[in-house]
Amino acid sequence: MKYPKEYLDEIKTRLKVSTVVSKTVNLKKRGKEFIGLSPFKTEKTPSFTVNDEKGFYHCFSTSEHGNIFDFLMKTQNLKFGEAVKTLANLAGMRPYTFSIQDEEREKKWQEYVSIYNKYVQFYHEKLLKNEKASVARDYLKKRNLSKEVVKKFKIGYVEKNTNFFEKLKKDFNEKVLIESGLFYLDDKKNIYVERFRERIIFPINSIAGQPIGLGGRTIRENNYLAKYINSPETQFFKKGSNLYNLDLARKLSNKIDQVYLVEGYMDVIGLSKNGIDNVVANLGTSLTDKQILILNQFFEDIIICFDGDESGYKAALRAAENSIKELKPEKKISFLFLTNNEDPDSFVNKNGKDYFIDFTKQNKISIHQFIFDHYKNQTENNPSSMAIFEKTLRSTANTIKDQFIKKYILEYFLKKISSLTPYINNNKRQFFTKKTKSLKSTQKYFNESKSISLIEIKEFSLLYLILNNLEIFQENIHLIEKIKLFTNENKLVFNAILSKLKNGDKFVVNDLSIDNQLIDKIFKFASIKHILNNYQNNHDKIFDLLEEITRDLKNYELEFRIEELESKFAKDLSESTFNEIRELKKLQNIN
Ligand code: GTP
Ligand code: MN
Repeated sequence: MKYPKEYLDEIKTRLKVSTVVSKTVNLKKRGKEFIGLSPFKTEKTPSFTVNDEKGFYHCFSTSEHGNIFDFLMKTQNLKFGEAVKTLANLAGMRPYTFSIQDEEREKKWQEYVSIYNKYVQFYHEKLLKNEKASVARDYLKKRNLSKEVVKKFKIGYVEKNTNFFEKLKKDFNEKVLIESGLFYLDDKKNIYVERFRERIIFPINSIAGQPIGLGGRTIRENNYLAKYINSPETQFFKKGSNLYNLDLARKLSNKIDQVYLVEGYMDVIGLSKNGIDNVVANLGTSLTDKQILILNQFFEDIIICFDGDESGYKAALRAAENSIKELKPEKKISFLFLTNNEDPDSFVNKNGKDYFIDFTKQNKISIHQFIFDHYKNQTENNPSSMAIFEKTLRSTANTIKDQFIKKYILEYFLKKISSLTPYINNNKRQFFTKKTKSLKSTQKYFNESKSISLIEIKEFSLLYLILNNLEIFQENIHLIEKIKLFTNENKLVFNAILSKLKNGDKFVVNDLSIDNQLIDKIFKFASIKHILNNYQNNHDKIFDLLEEITRDLKNYELEFRIEELESKFAKDLSESTFNEIRELKKLQNIN
């Protein structure tokens, strides 16, 4: 019994060697390859390599070499058929059982794909050459699609009157032809007509690159025709399990970790035209778990970029709630929101590749942040609304299948929620929730910027104060060089400033090589800024403010240290720990 070649190829296409091998061998990336300790012998220096592009593994110390099937057979002692079964399952494919039904299905599949191939090729050539297609060529020209792009995506145009069905009937089984969904029966005339007539067609390919469905855009400007239609679902074309352009995008996955997920065919084409080829689109339905899982088989980082309008936002939210369930360690899902009702196509055409990539870096937000922000914006300032908010977040976190991710996302949500309730004296979270004693006038701003912890705001104030008085602090560097910060980002900024100050040269904020976003955040949230405005160049006041901030930060540090020691004491009950705690508490009282 022999498996159909296509079936085996599809398993290989869907599963990278590194994915299969890393289930049992710890792999590290090294250039284009992965490297790890050989599973074929005990060794201390890694001599086992995996190359996803070439689709094989190689062990230098034993000369073992092979593909994913060989790997399973050798390491788990399986027969070929058992390896195929295991891997097909891992790839999310149906098992091949060698039943009559399976053989018939296989035959039908061959015919189905041939029909689609023929159809796509036929209308692609028409679009390129046929006189009747000039209206479509004009349309594409208007949208700035070059011949190269039309060829790359095998775009076609179906004319108004064709008798292609009759022609195809001569070569193919009529039943399969009808089931392909390319034609439908006109009841009145009792003939099969083109479903995609007068539409530009975009072939949707299987992961292995075979056309299995179509999207079609009308080129007429009117409201009574749907702008886009898809092939109906067939035995071989399931919208929720396929993605437009996955066949091309996945080939880049050995070089690029990220993939953009967009809404439309034209978005994929627009990005690709501008040099961004790691992009796929879902097919006019909402994003499914399956699509996320498939993308994750190839890419670590999925960036969902839907249209910058209300319906795009709603679709993104639905996608977030659906896909957070599937979040896995070492995988990321983020969201990118475009402004001014742009879609990715219009945005990239207007601004170009570099800007788009930069924009992504600056503006993408993680799936958990998006979900938090969304529900936070829905809340009103009353207990009932806030309670619903917390419940919603808890139950969202609960839908996550991976236990580790679930834990950390829940932690993220709860941490952010606890910063919204600063007056609750929760022992465990004192560090985040403690009321500050000083700077009463800044409380207002604390409340406005609830999603940022008090300590961060305090640090922003410190940085703001220094950045606005660089000269003064250059001369008095001893006042600030010993200050201890807590958050990593702010520490980086602080150290950058310190080293410039020590250097002695004059400089301005822009000379610091610090992320602009971070600087913006500091300038936005530093609670001190309104006070400082009233005291420009008043040295005494500036030093007073510095003292106040330093004292608060010192208190945070003490509190943090005490908390640490208390948990240590709970374990070791040692006298020295106890004494240390007592000393620190005394200090705290003095402050
Ligand atoms: P252009 O208008 O050609 O630039 O395309 P677009 O990508 O901007 O279109 P839009 O944002 O309106 O639609 C995005 C995707 O949603 C399309 O690629 C289709 O998959 C789907 N879609 C849009 N309109 C319809 C429709 O009327 N019916 C169906 N079934 N799907 C649609
Ligand atoms: Mn568009």
